[in-house]
Amino acid sequence: MTGFDEIDFFTDASLVEDPYPYFEHLRSKCPVTHMPHHGVVAVTGYDEALEVYRNHEVYSSANAFLGPFPPLPFTPEGDDITAQLAAHRDQLPLNEHMVTMDPPEHTAQRALLKRLLTPKRLKENEEFMWRLADKQIDTFFGSGRMELLNDYAKPFALIVVADLLGVPEEDHDQFRDKLLTATARTLDENEELQVNPLEWLDAQFSGYIEDRRKNPRADVLTDLATATFPDGTLPEVIDVVRLATFLFAAGQETTARLLSSSIQVLAERPDIQKQLRDDRELIPAFIEETLRVESPVKTDFRLVLKNTTLRGIDLPAGTPVAILPGAINRDPDRFECPAEFRVDRENLREHIAFGRGVHSCPGGPLARVEAKVSIERFLDRMDDIQLDDAEHGPESDRKFTWEPTYLLRGLNNLHLKYDPIG
Ligand code: HEM
Repeated sequence: MTGFDEIDFFTDASLVEDPYPYFEHLRSKCPVTHMPHHGVVAVTGYDEALEVYRNHEVYSSANAFLGPFPPLPFTPEGDDITAQLAAHRDQLPLNEHMVTMDPPEHTAQRALLKRLLTPKRLKENEEFMWRLADKQIDTFFGSGRMELLNDYAKPFALIVVADLLGVPEEDHDQFRDKLLTATARTLDENEELQVNPLEWLDAQFSGYIEDRRKNPRADVLTDLATATFPDGTLPEVIDVVRLATFLFAAGQETTARLLSSSIQVLAERPDIQKQLRDDRELIPAFIEETLRVESPVKTDFRLVLKNTTLRGIDLPAGTPVAILPGAINRDPDRFECPAEFRVDRENLREHIAFGRGVHSCPGGPLARVEAKVSIERFLDRMDDIQLDDAEHGPESDRKFTWEPTYLLRGLNNLHLKYDPIG
């Protein structure tokens, strides 16, 4: 009746606003089921998702980011495509980034990253976040209104990563201008793109790394430039640059969506807003429940390397598998009344919004702290945070626009009003 059986999840705009009924439909067929397009098999069950995430020998990350697009540059043959994949790997999109690598290449990259995300660095970064949150709030504070994504979440998440990587504070404005303004500009197809943000970022980091290798100083960029692989070898400059630029790509939009979803809940649920104002200890649980109910990564992918079965479904080598965190985190076999937002849910930390297994998100702790610092400062400085009716319509008929993609779940904008405190 719903027409869900014909719908193309990857291109159909009708699923963007509310994908959850579609996810339920898929699960009602089977937690592992063939989608009608692009030869993709969807995983909507919690246990099945863990099985896929944990078995990187059977499920490769080669297509982790874009899934079936573009199709594989070869025709899978036989019951094991490991060798075929290895021969064509360099033709796959984003193959130079760790998220699409498999062990042992992935293990070395991940170890390099671990050397950068030390507890000391994360602590210093958190101290910076408290200052940054206030600085960003100051840009709109007196007006009593804001658009959360552009006024706060995107610049905040961007500059947090810049600081994490040791970009000097005097360069932060340039990062904001070049990366945020340039991204906004790409949305207007008629205007020539004057700055390619990724090229700019590559050039900027190549400059930093080359400089610090020649002139080491006591700073984070020098740590980044001189970090070695576990076997003691020094990575090529380009490898370090890729690692740095990927952190911007992985850490910005995702965290901005976590911030918008969590503040949306506060604005729509005055009872929860009051609960958090009365007891700030609840903020971490609130963040976990937001991650569960509105998982920012909507779709993650794997490629079947060797013929296998999952929940009794045959998966031939070469099959793209879509892992759907937004569905899995609402699996009723795992989470009671999954659509309900419950800050006191006992197992709320079991969500898989940050994935699982060897690729599980190394930025999870950072994103959680970003959300905590932001929510704390919003509650400290703004009373009665509400949706702006002038933009989203009256309470009985709210209107939102969502990011038109199968990859991320998040609002395009969130207009708020509030009473400034002090
Ligand atoms: C709410 C915010 C975030 C969400 C929901 C999120 C989600 C995810 C997920 C699901 C994966 C696993 C992908 C896979 O297994 O194929 C992942 C990987 C990754 N994330 Fe995040 N992420 C967030 C924030 C961040 C931040 C702040 C950073 C760093 C600045 C970051 C860096 C990474 C990196 C480097 C990977 C690749 C790890 C690997 O391949 O081993 N993420 N993220």
